[in-house]
Amino acid sequence: MSKAMFIANWKMNMLQSEAEKFCQSFIELTREMGSLADVGIAPPLTAFSCVKNCLKQKPEVLLGTQNVHWLETGAHTGEISPTMLVDIGADFAIIGHSERRQFYGETDARVNQRMLAALKHGLLPIVCIGETESEFRAGKTESVVLGQLRDSLGTATSEQLAKIVLAYEPVWAIGTGLAATPEIAQNVHALIRLKVSETYGATAAKQVVILYGGSTKPDNIEELLACPDINGALVGGASLKADSFAQLIARGRKGDAQK
Ligand code: PGA
Repeated sequence: MSKAMFIANWKMNMLQSEAEKFCQSFIELTREMGSLADVGIAPPLTAFSCVKNCLKQKPEVLLGTQNVHWLETGAHTGEISPTMLVDIGADFAIIGHSERRQFYGETDARVNQRMLAALKHGLLPIVCIGETESEFRAGKTESVVLGQLRDSLGTATSEQLAKIVLAYEPVWAIGTGLAATPEIAQNVHALIRLKVSETYGATAAKQVVILYGGSTKPDNIEELLACPDINGALVGGASLKADSFAQLIARGRKGDAQK
């Protein structure tokens, strides 16, 4: 598997002034770290241009958004279309994050529509799946995660799958400080990869990037990324400070190198 990927999900945080400060120190802190082509940031849209400008010296950093509409234009007050995201220079879009599923009625069918729209416009979809705490406790992780995977991908072809990143984010681990243990995360990642293999074939399964998300931090990222089926991280809280995100990348790369 190629190099791991580190995606910052800033959620509804960061004013432009804060984003600018973050970028300045992030550039400083990563000066010795080589190319940052394995790093992406999804700021809130209001800080997108600011981050894009501030990271001009690091053009390889991917920039993305936290959602995308499935239509190109129309009467959809408050929504942002994939063509608009391409217009501002976005590279990727996070789709189906559990916060959207929990609080904004996001369904797998919608995730599928958004994913197809993103692909059509050349945006990399990062499709999130993951079980809630009660589902986890009830032993339903496998059926929930595989159900979300099946319905979110829908009729996607193997060519389309090659342009999609998956993110396993157990809801009970998001923002709780309680990350999944490497064993738990690895088991679910292996399960997802197996299902991809059954549906799309062994090559697709080998190549698909599966990120882990949920309370990742510099202290736990190395052991998570040392797991064979974990190909990177979708990072919330720890991505809001330049020093913790830079450290997380450095240690995550170390873990990934142990594979
Ligand atoms: P967290 O969030 O790292 O703060 O747990 C991860 C996410 O929601 O993507």
